Amino acid sequence: MNDERNTVGSGEPISRRRAIKSTLAAGAIPTALASRVYAAATDRIKIGLIGCGGRGTGAAAHSMSTGQNAVLWAMADAFSDRLRISHSSLMRGKAGASKVEEGSGFGDSIDVPPERQYVGLDAYRRIIDSDVDLVILTGPPGYRPLHFEYAVNAGKHVFMEKPLASDAFGVRRIMASAEKARQANLKVGVGLQRHHQDIYLEAIKRIHAGEIGRIVSMRCFWNTGFPAKTALPREDKTELEYQVRNWYFFDWLSGDHICEQHIHNLDICNWAFGDHPVSAEGMGGRQVRTDKKYGNIFDHHAVNYTYSDGTILHSYCRQIPGCSKMVAEQIVGTQGVAELSTTRCALANGDKTIWESPRNRGKDYQSPYQVEWNALMKSVVEDAPHHEVDYGASSTMTAILGRLATYSGKTVQWDEAIASERRLTTDAESWDAPAPIQPLEDGSYEIAQPGETKVL
Ligand SMILES: NC(=O)c1ccc[n+]([C@@H]2O[C@H](COP(=O)([O-])OP(=O)(O)OC[C@H]3O[C@@H](n4cnc5c(N)ncnc54)[C@H](O)[C@@H]3O)[C@@H](O)[C@H]2O)c1
Repeated sequence: MNDERNTVGSGEPISRRRAIKSTLAAGAIPTALASRVYAAATDRIKIGLIGCGGRGTGAAAHSMSTGQNAVLWAMADAFSDRLRISHSSLMRGKAGASKVEEGSGFGDSIDVPPERQYVGLDAYRRIIDSDVDLVILTGPPGYRPLHFEYAVNAGKHVFMEKPLASDAFGVRRIMASAEKARQANLKVGVGLQRHHQDIYLEAIKRIHAGEIGRIVSMRCFWNTGFPAKTALPREDKTELEYQVRNWYFFDWLSGDHICEQHIHNLDICNWAFGDHPVSAEGMGGRQVRTDKKYGNIFDHHAVNYTYSDGTILHSYCRQIPGCSKMVAEQIVGTQGVAELSTTRCALANGDKTIWESPRNRGKDYQSPYQVEWNALMKSVVEDAPHHEVDYGASSTMTAILGRLATYSGKTVQWDEAIASERRLTTDAESWDAPAPIQPLEDGSYEIAQPGETKVL
């Protein structure tokens, strides 16, 4: 059962809910940690990409499209084929949201010779130890705390994708490193790009200004079909390699899809409310994605989150083809309702529209994936503070809390969840090392059984 997972010490547990926002004992700041100030125009910002998949390739392209003097200088991935595909796409193309579109290349903004291409589970260390200035962390979330910790200790600026971890152990590790990064004036961007999307920024500003009154309840959804991730065959891979190749389908690597995708919606609700929930209860399971090739994650979760004043967030995420689809948030206030999504945001009171996002995005529109990079690179060049970890970690923990509730079938308190000593992940750097979960005799994996599975 899932409750057989290893339990390890992880530094100081966080005992009070709001502690996630506060300073953790960061320990001594290594001397290597010093934010380098750039002489704009002449000084090239050397980018190192760790995790050369779809998003990493897109993020690398965005890093070179900010108008600052950036060069993609080194690349690292667990697997050589993934690195090669990413490198050749970047050599050919131009940035899309999470992929590279055919078109104009990046010219001399890419300078990644074979000696600066690193492969393996230890590739993250070798690239961070090189002369890169800023690293992009776009491997599986289960590795994010390890990669972030190493990058901060080496004094590198960071862009890292959500979610920031797959368990509370990882969230605490992220927060401890974040505090070091803050003290060292390192810039850290987090890929919750709705925080850089004009219509969300305007809608949240209006919600905070009281245009729909006091928030009394919220709903959010990430209901879609199967994700665009293919389960790859086992062949002669070791168990650890098999799981890392298929990382999306293992909770220790992805956090389950409530963390992987639904975090975006939960993050919006936390942003609107101005805090994270204090508890969660929910239900979920594997209704159609039941084959053993789909690891151990669920295909649906429904969670009721409770905030400190009793406000309830009803949250739903489902990956079942043929069902209704919806990716959106709804914030209900005493004087109106906000309907939010990446394509349209609107505030209304009954039939009366309070505000609606413009239908035409205008000729200067840039995707939030680009805007988040513009902000990060500007902060690097101007040596201005840039630190997006607090809300990234809080929203990551919110998604983890929901998974703990659906896996266990129990009401789970934030305080006990964030303090949990249970660790799902491994820092092992050899493919022969034991994977954190082992297959059963028939090659399938234990699936959480609500009512039986212990998660804390
Ligand atoms: N903000 C967004 O809208 C958005 C969109 C897409 C993906 N993402 C996030 O980006 C991350 C990656 O997603 P993706 O779709 O690019 O997945 P992907 O599978 O395409 O890419 C992940 C890459 O990491 C590599 N990898 C695995 N373990 C590694 C390790 N230990 N060290 C180095 N490399 C390792 C894999 O080989 C792969 O190339 C996820 O956390 C995902 O949630 C965010």
